[in-house]
Amino acid sequence: MTMPVISPSILNCNIARLEDELTKISSADIAHVDVMDNHFVPNLTWGLPVVEACVRTGIMPIDAHLMIADPDRWAPAYAEVGCASVTFHAEAAGAPIRTAREIRHFGARAALALKPSTDIAPYIDLLPEFDMILVMTVEPGFGGQSFLDTMLPKIRRTREAIDASALDLSIQVDGGVSRSTIEQAAEAGATNFVAGSAIFRAEDAYEEIATLRSLAHSHMH
Ligand code: DX5
Ligand code: ZN
Repeated sequence: MTMPVISPSILNCNIARLEDELTKISSADIAHVDVMDNHFVPNLTWGLPVVEACVRTGIMPIDAHLMIADPDRWAPAYAEVGCASVTFHAEAAGAPIRTAREIRHFGARAALALKPSTDIAPYIDLLPEFDMILVMTVEPGFGGQSFLDTMLPKIRRTREAIDASALDLSIQVDGGVSRSTIEQAAEAGATNFVAGSAIFRAEDAYEEIATLRSLAHSHMH
């Protein structure tokens, strides 16, 4: 049986204390680092040097979520600096197959992200090029938004397509994942769970990670 992957988003952490913040969540599987360019999404965070600094701490593997225009140009470098996983958006990529292959060439897992209004159907034939599909469960750009349960059918369709192809891709959900929404996402077929505010606003991040992990685990197939 697949084990859940818990990926805390450091979007709203104290960036001046990066090592402390990563240590706070180091019981999780991987840290989710959101790169926003103020073009693809209406918010600006950080770029390659900060993501590389996260990798260099060596505290835990890094999952880079690129909410940027022109990922064909920028995404492979995130793999080259040592991210374990690099996710770029279908809506922004001009050559998703080439970009995914370049990411894999540098030894990272390649992932394709879908905004809420983007369907999985046009990307089914591309599944062999990827290790993970990210089904966004909020409009990308900000932490602290509510989980869109209207995305559950898309998670199910993605799960069915992956199972039908006999491939081994993870399905990640990102946005509004918490104690009250993680079970539905797991039930629908998600295996990898990003949680920002649920973990960083919790009194005890380790305890929250453990709770999310066990809720997800008991609802996964
Ligand atoms: C939103 C980001 C998310 C965000 C999730 O565009 O991609 O990773 O940090 O934050 P929460 O869990 O608070 O919705
Ligand atoms: Zn994200």
